[in-house]
Amino acid sequence: MDFKNVVAFQVVTLCITLAVANSVDFSYPAVFNFGDSNSDTGELAAGLGFLVSSPFGQSYFNPPSGRFSDGRLIVDFLMHGFKLPFLNAYLDSLGLPNFRHGCNFAAAGSTILPATASSISPFGFGRQVSQFSRFRGRVLQLLQGKKFDHYIPSEDNFEKGLYMFDIGQNDLAGAFYSKTLDQVLALIPMILLEFETGIKKLYDLGARSFWIHNTGPLGCLASVIATFGTNSSKLDELGCVIPQNQAAKAFNIQLQAFCSKLKSQYPDANVTYVDIFTIKLNLIAKHSKYGFVQPIMACCGYGGPPLNFDIRVSCGLTKILNGTAITAKACNNSSVYVNWDGTHYTEAANHFVASQILSGNYSSIHLADKMPFLL
Ligand SMILES: *[C@@H]1O[C@H](CO)[C@@H](O)[C@H](O)[C@H]1NC(C)=O
Ligand SMILES: *[C@@H]1O[C@H](CO)[C@@H](O)[C@H](O)[C@H]1NC(C)=O
Ligand SMILES: *[C@@H]1O[C@H](CO)[C@@H](O)[C@H](O)[C@H]1NC(C)=O
Ligand SMILES: *[C@@H]1O[C@H](CO)[C@@H](O)[C@H](O)[C@H]1NC(C)=O
Ligand SMILES: *[C@@H]1O[C@H](CO)[C@@H](O)[C@H](O)[C@H]1NC(C)=O
Ligand SMILES: *[C@@H]1O[C@H](CO)[C@@H](O)[C@H](O)[C@H]1NC(C)=O
Repeated sequence: MDFKNVVAFQVVTLCITLAVANSVDFSYPAVFNFGDSNSDTGELAAGLGFLVSSPFGQSYFNPPSGRFSDGRLIVDFLMHGFKLPFLNAYLDSLGLPNFRHGCNFAAAGSTILPATASSISPFGFGRQVSQFSRFRGRVLQLLQGKKFDHYIPSEDNFEKGLYMFDIGQNDLAGAFYSKTLDQVLALIPMILLEFETGIKKLYDLGARSFWIHNTGPLGCLASVIATFGTNSSKLDELGCVIPQNQAAKAFNIQLQAFCSKLKSQYPDANVTYVDIFTIKLNLIAKHSKYGFVQPIMACCGYGGPPLNFDIRVSCGLTKILNGTAITAKACNNSSVYVNWDGTHYTEAANHFVASQILSGNYSSIHLADKMPFLL
């Protein structure tokens, strides 16, 4: 099967399974999303003023959309599942952004803890919550005039909408550059306290449905393995860096406890905790079962097997190394790769993860009775 056929095949499968989804009664009028590159639909690129260039987007959005993948993200597939259009980035002022069904505040590189001068993204979680607060305030003002009804949510969408979160990975990943595992573990309660502060602000602003993704197995990212896994005593049987995955697990246990606490504190809210870690680790461990060939190696990178990742030349860029021009190119069969550029997942992997989420098997929720609704 050549590349085009693979893509066509996936599109056909998607349409068929979406038809099944349509028969399930499960609807949110709007989605408000907060996070990092795992769900950034163009925010950091708009906010900092750069273009994400090809080969990003080569499998779906062409020209690239500001997403850090070859195509769609988990959040894009979830929006499909909810029968809603793609979420526009809050800061995207071009291309007639439409916020009728929600808004996306997620920005690549963002952390839960406030950004510092050296942060990639200035839009830490608290800042994203402030952006939402301003967004909501402006919408309520604009609704008085009726002129923008087609572009902004209605007032009750703020209460009926779904508030989604996928953030925390960068807090952990970043901390390992200057801290030991024990120090990283000691940081987790502080990270979650900051998360709690933001969630409570959203609750006070009317949010009632929370959908919280835990953090993935970041020790399995080619970029992390290249930096922290050079000594094989640090690697597990899958080839993933052990301390990074331990930190992710510890974070997730505490995040889940926080979700339970939230439920008991706010009986009028629905809190959904989604186990992304298990879905992604399962995909990496049993990749062949799910149609993947490369669980760890980056599709787009430089250096070849086993990681095809070189910190000096990131995906799509050309650098002069030893007097020779080197380009980090994309593979032509990203649908058999889990990892896109060393740090982010391919569209094929994102599709797999979203379909697992929507199976309801990995969520601790009220909504379980309404699932499964398939992607
Ligand atoms: C790898 O780690 C082990 C255990 O910590 C250590 O004994 C060994 O010296 C390390 N090897 C290298 C090449 O650093
Ligand atoms: C929470 O979920 C239950 C069951 O699905 C639903 O009846 C209720 O309306 C939801 N509450 C909110 C605030 O969305
Ligand atoms: C550049 O040269 C150094 C030293 O000879 C070598 O170790 C390295 O692999 C070379 N890098 C590339 C990209 O060829
Ligand atoms: C894909 O790339 C490989 C080398 O990585 C090449 O051998 C193959 O012909 C390419 N396939 C297509 C369909 O372009
Ligand atoms: C990608 O496809 C080419 C041929 O199209 C094949 O030679 C190569 O092994 C494939 N890569 C993987 C990881 O399957
Ligand atoms: C959910 O889990 C059950 C029990 O393990 C399994 O039989 C079912 O196939 C799973 N559903 C999906 C959609 O993966």
